[in-house]
Amino acid sequence: MQKKEKLLEIRNLKQYFNIGKPNEVKAIDGISFDIYKGETLGLVGESGCGKSTTGRTIIRLYDATEGDVFFKGESVHGKKSRSELKKFNRSIQMIFQDPYASLNPRMKVSDIIAEGIDIHNLARNGKERMEQVYSLLETVGLNREHANRYPHEFSGGQRQRIGIARALAVQPEFIIADEPISALDVSIQAQVVNLMKKLQHEKGLTYLFIAHDLSMVKYISDRIGVMYFGKLVELAPAEELYSNPLHPYTQSLLSAIPLPDPEFERTRRRKTYDPSSHQYADHEEVIMREVKPGHFVHCSEQELKKYQAQYKS
Ligand SMILES: Nc1ncnc2c1ncn2[C@@H]1O[C@H](COP(=O)(O)OP(=O)(O)O)[C@@H](O)[C@H]1O
Ligand SMILES: [Mg+2]
Repeated sequence: MQKKEKLLEIRNLKQYFNIGKPNEVKAIDGISFDIYKGETLGLVGESGCGKSTTGRTIIRLYDATEGDVFFKGESVHGKKSRSELKKFNRSIQMIFQDPYASLNPRMKVSDIIAEGIDIHNLARNGKERMEQVYSLLETVGLNREHANRYPHEFSGGQRQRIGIARALAVQPEFIIADEPISALDVSIQAQVVNLMKKLQHEKGLTYLFIAHDLSMVKYISDRIGVMYFGKLVELAPAEELYSNPLHPYTQSLLSAIPLPDPEFERTRRRKTYDPSSHQYADHEEVIMREVKPGHFVHCSEQELKKYQAQYKS
């Protein structure tokens, strides 16, 4: 097997918000993981667990309280010159949940999409700029007639396509999609996911795909990380996470996915997660441990043994 190239290394990243001492919000509390080139890493967890903060801290919208991120081996939070920062900002783009709030209602679609082209001087003249906009519109399944319109003239799914075109305009390598389909009708969600998959394939993009439940991430993610109160509690290949969820919180998230079969749906039991079920002794180190190659769970040494036994049985 070809050795996978690490595009990003997130190391012991912490983001504490000081909302007036002593009220400190540990939005992310020491998370570490890698993102490989060309993959989609799904990041899942309930609202408020720190997913957006993770995305924003990775791209340095916030300074990290502790820890660092390495993009192609280079520190993101370390000292950077203006030109290095500009280059970094072009390599990484974001797509947001609410495509209406994130698109300026007073700007024409062409100017929204061309924002990055202008900032990074990617077109030599106005004609080239518009050619790029037209081509981007077509890439995301819209057409050149849409260039002169305003965001309110589009449906939610179309607006998300505009958001994707804007992100693609600067030819990024890595895209953080922060709940890009959560605000869309279920029928539209699959279309946007399929478009993102197609673009990934064509352009060799790497995604961090954030979602608050486990229902759609399965279709786009190669691996999935589960977050709970600022910590990563499980990380595994997508198939593996669905077939062998080990952390009780992951199990509770999976039990919440509605099933298409009404018979199953009637008998479905929602598992609730009780964090006090862990009962750690003071000296026990609770960290991410590898239960099986590539499958990590946040646990103590004792729990690791329990999880490994679960596998053998
Ligand atoms: N700028 C901020 N200032 C203070 N607290 C924040 C800020 N951003 C997020 N938080 C808090 O950090 C926690 C994680 O938030 P967030 O990353 O938005 O979660 P998620 O995206 O998983 O819903 C929440 O408790 C939230 O209230
Ligand atoms: Mg969020």
